[in-house]
Amino acid sequence: MPAAGAVEMIHASSLILDDLPCMDNDSLRRGKPSNHIVFGESTSLLAVQALAALAQKMVSTSLEVPSKRVVQAVKEMVGAIERLVVGQAADLAGEGMSYEKDEGLIYLEFIHDHKTTPLVQVSAVLGSIMGGGSDEETERLRSYGKCIGLMYQVVDDVLDANKSSEELGKTAGKDLMSRKLTYPKVMGVEKARKYAEMLNKEAQKQLQGFDLAPLSSLADFIVNRQN
Ligand code: IPE
Ligand code: MG
Ligand code: MG
Ligand code: MG
Repeated sequence: MPAAGAVEMIHASSLILDDLPCMDNDSLRRGKPSNHIVFGESTSLLAVQALAALAQKMVSTSLEVPSKRVVQAVKEMVGAIERLVVGQAADLAGEGMSYEKDEGLIYLEFIHDHKTTPLVQVSAVLGSIMGGGSDEETERLRSYGKCIGLMYQVVDDVLDANKSSEELGKTAGKDLMSRKLTYPKVMGVEKARKYAEMLNKEAQKQLQGFDLAPLSSLADFIVNRQN
């Protein structure tokens, strides 16, 4: 399915970008040296651009899908990249800033509603759009995507604070080191875990009536993941 490959390309490009020295300056990804450590910064930057462009090309040349659906799918992907840029800018601007508790949570949700959830949402809705799902089905999958996207980041923040680099395959404790605004920071680890469970329940609710067991298992996997 071109949509799945395209979203994976955007995801890969977002991680290469995220690890660059001018961003999170991270040298470990998926248990291996980050892209820029192996290939250098200029090649990594070019790979980010190339992957984002190739993803759109892949979807826009899906000849067997009616053009109206293809246009909508490309619009969704471009929109997710646009939001990702805003989210990453907010994430970097938030480093080291101090907030009152409620303000911190509002800012944090803004970051993740842009940085993380759109990419996950687009994975969920593209299948529906390209496969000819109804608007109602697409919107329910969008809500499902929002829940698991946010949940992914809540769990990511908790793991960053509680696991080793070996377990994570990326640098542990990086959020604290970079003074990032995170869920454990604004609500504590226990509340963050409960929040993730609540988001999983909400995600499962959005799937009711669909025959989509793999999406239900995916949500369970994300909330229970250990790396
Ligand atoms: C960035 O978030 C992930 C993207 C949206 C691309 P993080 O900076 O928290 O990601 P990790 O922890 O480095 O994987
Ligand atoms: Mg980051
Ligand atoms: Mg990072
Ligand atoms: Mg993280």
